[in-house]
Amino acid sequence: MKLKDNIASMEAYAPGKSVPGAVKLSSNENPLGPSPAAIQAASDVLNGIHRYPDGAATALKSALSKQWDLPEEHFLVANGSDEVFALLAAAWISPGENAVSCRETFSQYRYAVHLFNAQMREVSLTHGHFDLEAIGKQIDENTRIVFLCNPNNPTGTYKNHKEIERFLTGLPSHLFVVLDEAYAEFAQAPDFPDSQSLLKQFPNLIVTRTFSKLYGLAGLRVGYAVGDPQIIQGAARAAMPFNVNNLAQAAALAALTDEAHRKATLELVECEREYMTRELEKRRLCPLPSQANFVCFSLKQPVANLWSQIADRGIVLRDLASFGLPEMARYTYGTRNDNNRLLSILDELLGLES
Ligand SMILES: Cc1ncc(COP(=O)(O)O)c(C=O)c1O
Repeated sequence: MKLKDNIASMEAYAPGKSVPGAVKLSSNENPLGPSPAAIQAASDVLNGIHRYPDGAATALKSALSKQWDLPEEHFLVANGSDEVFALLAAAWISPGENAVSCRETFSQYRYAVHLFNAQMREVSLTHGHFDLEAIGKQIDENTRIVFLCNPNNPTGTYKNHKEIERFLTGLPSHLFVVLDEAYAEFAQAPDFPDSQSLLKQFPNLIVTRTFSKLYGLAGLRVGYAVGDPQIIQGAARAAMPFNVNNLAQAAALAALTDEAHRKATLELVECEREYMTRELEKRRLCPLPSQANFVCFSLKQPVANLWSQIADRGIVLRDLASFGLPEMARYTYGTRNDNNRLLSILDELLGLES
């Protein structure tokens, strides 16, 4: 028996860690928890879990269709956007073909491409930002997918509407672009891309979103892609039957309508983002400008040196060594208490006077 080479060489996913007794702020989850409406909706369907779910996620797709003002065949709902990437790669990229992205970004693009034994071409970020020009230079006749993460995980930086529009203009028709907007709801910059209008302009654009962040449903696994029906329906053919379970569908549908939870989450992130940027800057820890629900900053030494001591003092942050950024940490904004706790831990461990 021989394990396939592409599988043998794949690195295992490095998740944000949990430490008993410490606050987990290492996976960009919602510190306010799930939407109460989503909890209620999931509880309401518990009695029906002896039945298979609706394999077409009809109600959820219909709600998304209204939200985006696009027909339902433009939507692919899956077991997290992680599965969306894998389905897109399963359907649209073959051995001998390639995809292009950045190195210091979400690892699941690489995973999806390697899973189907295709080549992943990765360029470096430039000053913490996606380098669209360098990505463009990697595209050739065998390129099938370009993955852009906006705002980028782990840096929180973004490309604006004009930059994305310029990149999409004039791309060859043998590929499509996946614009991963897992954190887009948190962006406040006025020039942040309006992906709804870009979708109407560019048939080779697929936008992905998740219920794991703003909606607080990471544990239920729901994400989706929206875009050209031919690309979307091709990917849907690769899906396992019933890939999104009953509880997940019901909770996601309810979360979409829970305006109070959405507003509270956005208010927390916007307020804490401003606070933490200021506080980390005061401490000269070089926070990158973030449009997401997390901040990336420098500990000026390998994060591995300090990670356990920080966790022992009650806060779990993310060491970015697996992203190729060993001196950078990524921290999901928590409550003001959590954030002040992190700051005082840093002051103590780094000997800082704020
Ligand atoms: C940029 C990005 N995209 C997608 C995901 C995965 O989302 P999901 O939970 O829907 O699989 C994450 C999760 O951390 C992420 O950071």
